[in-house]
Amino acid sequence: MLNEAVQYAYSHRDSFLSELKEFLSLPSISALPEHQPDIQRTAHWLADQFAAIGLHKASVNSTPGHPVVTAEWLEAGPDKPTILIYGHYDVQPVDPIELWHSDPFKAEVRDNYLYARGSSDDKGQTFIHIKALESFMKTDGKLPVNVKLIIEGEEEIGGPSLDPFIETHRKHLQADVAVISDTHMLRPDLPCLVYALRGLCYIQVEVTGPARDLHSGQYGGAVYNPIQALSEMLASLKDRAGHITVPGFYDKVVPLSEAERQILAQAPFSEEEFKRDAGVKGVWGEKGYTTKEQITARPTLEINGMWGGFTGEGSKTVLPSKAFAKISCRLVADQDHVEIAELLQNHLKQIAPPYVTLEIRRLHGGHGTLINLDSKYMRAAGKVLQQVFGNAPVYEREGGSIPVVATFQKVLGIDSIMLGFGLPDDGLHSPNERFYLPNFYNGIETVIRYFAEIGT
Ligand code: BES
Ligand code: MN
Ligand code: MN
Repeated sequence: MLNEAVQYAYSHRDSFLSELKEFLSLPSISALPEHQPDIQRTAHWLADQFAAIGLHKASVNSTPGHPVVTAEWLEAGPDKPTILIYGHYDVQPVDPIELWHSDPFKAEVRDNYLYARGSSDDKGQTFIHIKALESFMKTDGKLPVNVKLIIEGEEEIGGPSLDPFIETHRKHLQADVAVISDTHMLRPDLPCLVYALRGLCYIQVEVTGPARDLHSGQYGGAVYNPIQALSEMLASLKDRAGHITVPGFYDKVVPLSEAERQILAQAPFSEEEFKRDAGVKGVWGEKGYTTKEQITARPTLEINGMWGGFTGEGSKTVLPSKAFAKISCRLVADQDHVEIAELLQNHLKQIAPPYVTLEIRRLHGGHGTLINLDSKYMRAAGKVLQQVFGNAPVYEREGGSIPVVATFQKVLGIDSIMLGFGLPDDGLHSPNERFYLPNFYNGIETVIRYFAEIGT
């Protein structure tokens, strides 16, 4: 049955690709309210796909935000493992649109890459699972494992609806392991198993000084400027060694063991390439850690944006009333994003000069995670990746965030296996996002082999 499924996938490459193009043509941008109807259409399109390949209970579940699409197939029997497949059907906005070489919602193949918004993150990768399941259902009429699918529409906005949905449906979502394809490989021939993700804590700070914008000649010299106050506060959040100065910030960080540092050092990484890619003159980060460790295994604090006062053309002599900043922290296990937001909030209030008032809003958050490398599901993943790609996978920490992984651990008590088929230069969230087509097809084969492997 394995060979038939692989054969089916092979002979259906063209139709799989055209169906993926159809999926990608739906502009399911979660951040923009005007795309709400497209989000709905995409969710229903997915549920129809699930039903068409013979999965049961395909449904579009409404939430206070965007719908969660679910389905299941549990006929493999109680002696077979149950796999929870997660993906997200929402995509990032496309701006700046003028930098795209083709329409982001008219997928186009050039040089073996499929160009479209969501091609890699995450519609293309989610579709891999659907087509792997179809390959079994259409040949054997059954699957080697039980599956439950949960495909959400708020991942790219750190949406609040998924966690409560998982809590409410925790019984229905019970599984042995989750499988997620929303990360990348290192090279087309070098697969990668991500065993850690960073979490996220995102806040916005509003500093108010005088009750209105003042004439800087009449008042300047005797009033604490809120932009100056905010700049001083922000500048003090890191010391010269790149350490974050918020008290308690590092208290819960699971330290890097020597053994793990060695694993991380084995992954191919070129600092020169990193600098070139980022367009920076040199790297700068927390002392005592390699660049690789800084971008994957250590927590960060970054100012994403800052504004206030007069920013128009020319000059206006004004002493502003308000200053704003957006601050985000990437977190690692076991930092709790709510606790970190509180620490940060308290610290900012503490260090603010008494002449200004502070208002802080929490924008979104997610916990960091560490996945057990020593499980049969992880070993099976290593085995099939090697079979399909010809090289054993590299074990990696990922610096980005997939908040649901921590939720699955906390609420369902299960780990996630991250079978990523993107490539580092797919251009996630950027113009000309693309997906390397051989990875699409090899990904389908990998997932077919993975389900067969853990089903025996
Ligand atoms: N698929 C990405 C996560 C990712 C990024 C994996 C880079 C591998 C490499 C995911 O869709 C994403 O963009 N996550 C956001 C989460 C946030 C909006 C809550 C992120 O990391 O910024
Ligand atoms: Mn993603
Ligand atoms: Mn993303």
